[in-house]
Amino acid sequence: MAKLAHAQWSSRMTFVLAAAGSAVGLGNIWRFSYMVGDNGGAAFVLIYLACVALVGLPVLVAEWMIGRRGQKNPINSMAELASKHGKSPAWALVGISGVLAAFLILSFYSVIGGWSLNYTLGTVIGTFNGQDADSISDLFGSMLASPGTLLLWHTAFMLLVIGIVARGVTKGLESAARSMMPALVVLMLVLVGYGVASGHFGEALAFMFRPDWSAVNGGVVLAAMGQAFFTLSLGMGIMMAYGSYLGEDVNLISTARTVIILDTGIALLAGLAIFPIVFANGLSAGEGPGLIFVTLPLAFGNMAGGTLLGLMFFLLLTFAALTSAISLLEPVVEMMEERTSLPRVSATLVSGVAVWMLGVAALLSFNVWADFQIIGLNIFDLLDTFTSKILLPLTGLGAIVFVAWCLKRESVETELGLSATGISLWNIVARIIAPIGVIIVFVAGLI
Ligand code: PHE
Repeated sequence: MAKLAHAQWSSRMTFVLAAAGSAVGLGNIWRFSYMVGDNGGAAFVLIYLACVALVGLPVLVAEWMIGRRGQKNPINSMAELASKHGKSPAWALVGISGVLAAFLILSFYSVIGGWSLNYTLGTVIGTFNGQDADSISDLFGSMLASPGTLLLWHTAFMLLVIGIVARGVTKGLESAARSMMPALVVLMLVLVGYGVASGHFGEALAFMFRPDWSAVNGGVVLAAMGQAFFTLSLGMGIMMAYGSYLGEDVNLISTARTVIILDTGIALLAGLAIFPIVFANGLSAGEGPGLIFVTLPLAFGNMAGGTLLGLMFFLLLTFAALTSAISLLEPVVEMMEERTSLPRVSATLVSGVAVWMLGVAALLSFNVWADFQIIGLNIFDLLDTFTSKILLPLTGLGAIVFVAWCLKRESVETELGLSATGISLWNIVARIIAPIGVIIVFVAGLI
């Protein structure tokens, strides 16, 4: 008996860690903090939390359910379930737009992964030691201004991703990275402690949790929802693919809750670590994508043992980024392997090089192509905006509508294993609240 219970626990645990490995990445630390800063603080945080609970959780469960019932890659799972339930084959589009989103996101994700690599080296060689806020900002600015530096690190990051995916050694790497997640949390707690000592922790708390609703508009709400999708790896078919490996005995709702608590907890910790440094040094919270790169090195460069802590932090951040990046390239490679006759290594190379090329366009938008803008956005912002604010919500919407409205009631009941009240609650959230929420936010954000 005891043995059985342990075996079940361990398989659910493995799954939670795998899903968290994809979910926890640059999105929690780099993207979350700068989004909070850019969108005015607490109101954004609270709307983001509501989006995670009311939309993120049901969509996560829906994606896993599609994977577990379809037992195939996202596109085929959707196609097969649709045909089984007498629905249009066009539902496969949900899977296709997911793979497209993964491709586009990886291109700019890799550029930021490159920054993280560069800063890992920077801490080792002591670049940030004893520097003040201005000189650290200048260092970041000169990195952005140099296409060569950005290209070098983007290429290095992408080579790592390609190398790992081509060899199919993701399992080993993921398990290594997973054991590093607790270390990342510990380091973040150290930084939060540093923030408390800086005397500006109260200010940071107020910034993150005392909302000023007057600053909220459709754009802020859409940004919060986009962040919820991005950080939970939703709307990309990734969670569908993971769901196809999921045992029948795993409870989807409680598992989703665990993954979400982990992911959100790390993001909030990152905010509590970063904003005290922002306020203590008179930096701007709305610094944009560079926020963690101008705040954290400042802390590491000026604290006792900072070189070692900084090295560990950026190394762990790079690892978290790598595990997420791998989960982004996998679906693209898998699709290519299945649709063409290319062997794995070539499929990885072709898709990796294509992603790399788009990433080059993204990094040039920080310097030589800065003036090249479409609808007021440079290429980097365009990729980020188009994926997080359009593709991800639409794909997620497709997944939840499909599960809530097209799957047979019995299938959903068996999948969720809920009581009668639980099912009614699920129906209200999955059929009405989540889809309508996505649609309203989407429309309000775009107009
Ligand atoms: N969720 C990851 C993060 O927060 C990014 C990611 C997005 C990974 C989509 C896979 C798919 O960094």
